Amino acid sequence: DKGTYPHYMLKEIDEQPAVMRKIIQAYQGENEKLTIKPEILDALQTADRLYIIAAGTSFHAGLIGKEYLEKMAGIPVEVHVASEFGYNMPLLSERPMFIFISQSGETADSRQVLVRIKELGFPSLTITNVSGSTLSREADYTLLLHAGPEIAVASTKAYTAQLAVLAILSAVSAEARGRELGFDLVQEMGIVANAIQAQVDMKEEIEQLAHDYLSTTRNCFFIGRLMDYFVGLEGALKLKEISYIQAEGFAGGELKHGTIALIEEGTPVIALATQESVNLNIRGNVKEVAARGANTMIISMKGLNEDGDSHVLPPVHELLTPLVSVIPLQLISYYAALHRDCDVDKPRNLAKSVTVE
Ligand code: M6R
Repeated sequence: DKGTYPHYMLKEIDEQPAVMRKIIQAYQGENEKLTIKPEILDALQTADRLYIIAAGTSFHAGLIGKEYLEKMAGIPVEVHVASEFGYNMPLLSERPMFIFISQSGETADSRQVLVRIKELGFPSLTITNVSGSTLSREADYTLLLHAGPEIAVASTKAYTAQLAVLAILSAVSAEARGRELGFDLVQEMGIVANAIQAQVDMKEEIEQLAHDYLSTTRNCFFIGRLMDYFVGLEGALKLKEISYIQAEGFAGGELKHGTIALIEEGTPVIALATQESVNLNIRGNVKEVAARGANTMIISMKGLNEDGDSHVLPPVHELLTPLVSVIPLQLISYYAALHRDCDVDKPRNLAKSVTVE
């Protein structure tokens, strides 16, 4: 039931601060310490490389999951699009373990990979929102997202929930491996939940950005570096699937290797600037496209912001920035679709779960 909300998507965007808190609670054991079942930690400990398999938004979450697992837990990770992996398996490491990320747990592309790797005898973990779903039942282990049902075709709260669960898995694995994290994830996630709340409370400002940048455009580019690049991919997917604006996400340095040819007077380019080590670089990329006439929007994080940035996010731990920076992108897509009278919750040609290969 969407209650007083005009669309499920808006309701699900608004639920994200509560979902973050719920996930933390769900994964807290005794003494409020984050815990993961020991058998899952053991399987991760035995693996020499993790292979994340997913599609669409869940694939985008996987790209960030790789950063978490490598940077926090020190485990090498590859991330693959399910529909490609099954038909062109790369050379695997000696002791691979597979992580399937799927909101629905029913995605056929991911399932065909699970079936293959089970035949090969490799261990598997599914991260899903739906307990009892096919990918959950068929994998060795499951971690639940605790996001509550996601009805809108465009995934929002499942994405941030996936990031949160991947962060918890990474932090707990780090501890099991005796690695110092250097921060308290429970505390940092509390800050994230508040920062998300601050974003959903700024709907009017964000709707105005959607209006100013996207009301008449045919296309839009998202740029970012490091994790901002991955969030840009998600922003582009969200925008295209519900507003039908042609949108592409790029690594900031990559546009000039070809795509910059598409920049015309007024082409919207949305840049994310939340990563300190590349803040100057992304701003340089923004200048490159602005000089060719692009209508540039900079979404930055406080502390890295400059005068004239379009939208400034409250500061959170650098690894957790995707959980916050994606929120204005979800809202921008929502309002862009609304302004175009699109069917926000049920975009054309799409189904909530894709159960055919
Ligand atoms: O249920 P899944 O997470 O496996 O679904 C994967 C994709 O089909 C899904 O994320 C799709 O890209 C969404 N509509 C994006 O908003």
